[in-house]
Amino acid sequence: MLQRITEVFRKEFNAAPFVFRSPGRVNIIGEHTDYNEGYVLPAAIDKYIYIAIAPRTDKELHLFSQDFQDSCIKNLDDTLQPVAEGWPNYILGVVDQLKQKGFRLSGFNLVIDGDVPIGAGLSSSAAVECATAFALNNLFELGLDKLELVKLAQLAEHNFAGVRCGIMDQFASMFGKKGHAIKLDCRSLDYEYVPLDLKGYKILLLNSNVKHSLASTEYNTRREQCEQGVAWVKAHHPQVKSLRDITLEMLDQYVLPQDELIYRRCKYVVEESLRLLQGCEDLKKGDLAALGKKMFRTHFGLSKEYEVSCPELDLLVSAVETHPNVLGARMMGGGFGGCTINLVKEDAITELVDGIKHAYQDQTGLELTYYVADIENGTGPA
Ligand code: GLA
Repeated sequence: MLQRITEVFRKEFNAAPFVFRSPGRVNIIGEHTDYNEGYVLPAAIDKYIYIAIAPRTDKELHLFSQDFQDSCIKNLDDTLQPVAEGWPNYILGVVDQLKQKGFRLSGFNLVIDGDVPIGAGLSSSAAVECATAFALNNLFELGLDKLELVKLAQLAEHNFAGVRCGIMDQFASMFGKKGHAIKLDCRSLDYEYVPLDLKGYKILLLNSNVKHSLASTEYNTRREQCEQGVAWVKAHHPQVKSLRDITLEMLDQYVLPQDELIYRRCKYVVEESLRLLQGCEDLKKGDLAALGKKMFRTHFGLSKEYEVSCPELDLLVSAVETHPNVLGARMMGGGFGGCTINLVKEDAITELVDGIKHAYQDQTGLELTYYVADIENGTGPA
């Protein structure tokens, strides 16, 4: 990939680039908890977005996507706006954030390439934002630290992709550590690396190949529903700031009488936060079976209470639920498509996939693809 992107850059721009990369991510447990100031347990994987970059002497941005075989040219002196093509937005959104912060950049040439599947719930967009932020920070010696870059990348997603995402994806892509998950407190942003010792098991990602097109509108709706629940509790307990501060008893008392749907949404989040803390302890103790059971329970919550799953993801989880070599499985990320994450005995992976792929195709008309994810370091030079 490094060689390919360097060659493409030479061909496009007739110069040698600097190359940076940022990984996709998985999340072991703790879904839809980040924007509720709870905890998450993500890890960076061995699939990357690559950015090759070199400065220009004028104010122009020349972007080229190897995947889309498409170019985009902008001028830094113009107001940057989201574009219809989609792919440039994650780059332009980061540039726009830097401009808003008062950094004076010069123009640059940039090629983007990578092997993080798009729309699969592995956070290819966060990987693009982090790779871009890291590259520009280096190229123009902006002096920002990694956490500042993460926050900037998250705002790029809010403003140029229209998703009010939490901080998990960008944090995981930037701060990933080989062989470790990151237990991140999304309120304080304190974090701890937890060794991911899987003892003969692997993280298997089953891609439903359903593109999560509903995700952005429904995602923002879920956020609003959580905020509504918090507002109802806050009316009685002014110190409450987010679902992080709310107990199941408070939900029973103040939210259930108001609205059953909002109650169900909030209850899922409060329970998931507790589940994550216990799941981390399971991992530290090496009790993968207990962690796996919690993953199945998380899937139930995401499907029936938070309602961000889809029939194809439900099918993939139920297909492995009683399999002797699968400890846990659930949908992962924002939802409405993308991958399930499965803890599977390493030597049973091929047989497992062979066993379900035909049935999946028959029932959904979609192909089932899969990746075995290894846990790697976060954003850096390629
Ligand atoms: C998406 C968002 C994250 C997080 C997950 C759900 O991936 O970008 O911030 O909210 O959904 O856990």
